[in-house]
Amino acid sequence: MQQRVINPVVRLSMMPTQTLLFPTYHATPFLKWAGGKSKYLNQLSQFFPSKVSRYIEPFVGAGSVYFCILARFQPDVCLLSDLNADLIQCYETVRDECQPLIARLEEHKQNHSSSYYYKVRDQNPKDLRMVEAAARFIYLNKTCFNGLYRVNQSGEFNVPIGSYKVPKICEPDKLMLASHALAVVKLRSSDFASVCLSEAQPNDFVYLDPPYQPISTTAHFTKYTSNQFGRGDQIRLAEIYRELDRRGCYVMLNNSDSEFIRALYRGYRIETIQTNRSISSNAKTRGMTKELVVLNYFDSK
Ligand SMILES: C[S@@+](CC[C@H](N)C(=O)[O-])C[C@H]1O[C@@H](n2cnc3c(N)ncnc32)[C@H](O)[C@@H]1O
Repeated sequence: MQQRVINPVVRLSMMPTQTLLFPTYHATPFLKWAGGKSKYLNQLSQFFPSKVSRYIEPFVGAGSVYFCILARFQPDVCLLSDLNADLIQCYETVRDECQPLIARLEEHKQNHSSSYYYKVRDQNPKDLRMVEAAARFIYLNKTCFNGLYRVNQSGEFNVPIGSYKVPKICEPDKLMLASHALAVVKLRSSDFASVCLSEAQPNDFVYLDPPYQPISTTAHFTKYTSNQFGRGDQIRLAEIYRELDRRGCYVMLNNSDSEFIRALYRGYRIETIQTNRSISSNAKTRGMTKELVVLNYFDSK
């Protein structure tokens, strides 16, 4: 780990005009997401590097950190990725087909009921066209229990309906702002390792927000895809972290505070933030918790 200075040139003249014409700084997540960072952006942003011209986020989820980075730094290049292919296809649809998507979500909103929810849940997204699949994804996200995304071994979404009185199924303004904010983004659906190894370059800012290592059997939700993110994945991720450090990237990672995770990142700068976990079903493990922020640099703002 060393102290580095990012190339201070922010090439606004090289930015695609779309980024300058639309108020991307207002974009916020259009999905609910387990482990989403929206509530902690103030705490997290104090650790961002002082400049970001290329940004990579391999566990993007609902993208709260990306939207914040875009507003603050307007990077020249952004790459967002997640193993969840349905999520990434949804991002592509918001970016490329926003108006038809809004129209389809309005229909879901009109039809919403318990029986309708289960009818839509039973559909196989692979049989649906792009707009239809993305509308299903957003509709289920906004109406299911706690906005969870959970699939069974066959990859079928199996979360029961939530108990919202008036779920926000269609939010046109939010979707349109997100669409503009995604206009210049490169999207990928892959495992974090291949994204980092194939894309990371010196001075890139890489933000890693993996499924957390559980600190108790019920404390953290790690089953975002049909594969559990286990200890082996955490070890693999720590190796990728070291490789990104060797390449000269600025690397920031969040995880739960445990001896296991602290040991994986020994030698790096380890800070903590205060969070209020709501994923746990156990009242004892809910409430204020410390989470780790692992950094390989010191030149935050
Ligand atoms: C903690 S969430 C990220 C939340 C995000 N920062 C936000 O604010 O919404 C972790 C994400 O990692 C994704 N994921 C799980 N295993 C992965 C893997 N092997 N490679 C890439 N992404 C993975 C999940 O689909 C999930 O979206």
